[in-house]
Order: sequence, then C-alpha cells, then structure tokens
Amino acid sequence: MEIDILTIFPEIFDGPFSQSIIKRARDKEVVTIRLHNFREYSSNKHKNVDDYPYGGGAGMVMLAEPIVRCIESLTAQRSYDDVIYLSPDGELLTQHFANQLSVKKNLILLCGHYKGIDERIRELVITREISIGDYVLSGGELAAAVVVDSIVRLIPGVLGDETSALSDSFQDNLLSPPVYTRPAEFRGKKVPDVLLSGNDREIVRWRHEQSLERTRKRRPGLYDDL
Ligand code: ADE
Repeated sequence: MEIDILTIFPEIFDGPFSQSIIKRARDKEVVTIRLHNFREYSSNKHKNVDDYPYGGGAGMVMLAEPIVRCIESLTAQRSYDDVIYLSPDGELLTQHFANQLSVKKNLILLCGHYKGIDERIRELVITREISIGDYVLSGGELAAAVVVDSIVRLIPGVLGDETSALSDSFQDNLLSPPVYTRPAEFRGKKVPDVLLSGNDREIVRWRHEQSLERTRKRRPGLYDDL
C-alpha cells in the first residue's frame, strides 16, 4: 500500500510513524508513506496556504490552489483509490471502514486546518471524507495518523501473529474478552481457573461469553446490532 499525506505540519507524523507496528510495516516495505507539504505548491510569494472567508466570519479558510496543485501532481504520477479529506463532517471511522481501506493500493490523505478548506477542493478532487469521532481537532494530522494506524495493522504480514488482528475488538462487532498473564495471582486477585485448565474448548467458550457480556454492558448499541 502507498499512502500520500498532504500536510503543512509534516513533523507531527515523526513520532507515530517511526515506532512500533507502523515502523515495522515501513521497514518491511508493506507500506510506503510519503509526506507532502502543500505550502510548497503555493504560487504566492509568501507561500500562504489560507485566506479570509468570503462573506466574513471568524477563522481562515485553506486556499484551493496549493492543495489542488499538490494533488494533481500526485494523480499525474499514479492512480489513487481515494482522495480522502480528514474532517469532522466525514464518514465515521469504524473497524468495518478500516477493513475496507486496508485493501486499497494508493490513498491520498489531506489534512486541513483552521475553519476548513475551500469548498471547491471537495468538488474538484476529494472522493471521500473521514471523521475519527464527533469532536473537533485542531487539524487533520492526528486523525490521519489514527486512520493510517488502523489500516496498516490490518495489512497481511504486518502483525507478527497473522491471526491477531482477527481477534481484535470490533472485528465481529464484539469487544475483546479480558486477558491475563503471569503471575496467576496478583494482590489477591486470581486468574480465572478456566484459563489455567488447558481445556481449549472451555477457554474458547468462556472468552466468547465474556465478549458478549462486556459488549452488552459497555456498548449496548453494538450488542443490539448482533
Ligand atoms: N479534523 C478536525 N477534527 C477531525 C475529526 N474529528 N476527524 C477527522 N478530522 C478532523
């Protein structure tokens, strides 16, 4: 998979993309992530990327020109499955949505700032919008990092244990069951006997029951969809 991220703050990604699973996926070349500072595509001598909104009002609006030129320079090189704008107005990111994105080959992620982007950018080049939740972030970068993390870990070969993404919470609309490791007793609290029993069938059954119970209690909305 190849992911091109358009941002005026590329350094924000230094941390999330240079550690852990994403680092491993990049090292193995399972994913290629390129960062593009679209400020470089501004034809304005001050390299401005925003301006006052027509009609007045608070906040600045991101200019169409640098973003559209940057996207066009990428789409001239290869075709993209989607050109995604990270926005609280977008389609809510879910595990199901992440699964769908994880099989794409080429994606562009556009990170906005301030009051938003000139509407014509949406009309001309954006094919999809994603929100990571019903709250407003100061920019799309953290949302883009969340989207990348949620999809890259699903690409086959990225996680050490091939099955582990399948047993994640939400893969079957259920939350994960509780997990334990050594010691078998900690501050008087014991690991449930069934997990020490060696009886695989019972363990599978127990975990499924715990998943159902946890989902019913914590996320009744998910449970009702089962
Ligand atoms: N940009 C600002 N807030 C956002 C959100 N909740 N999701 C995605 N992008 C955003």
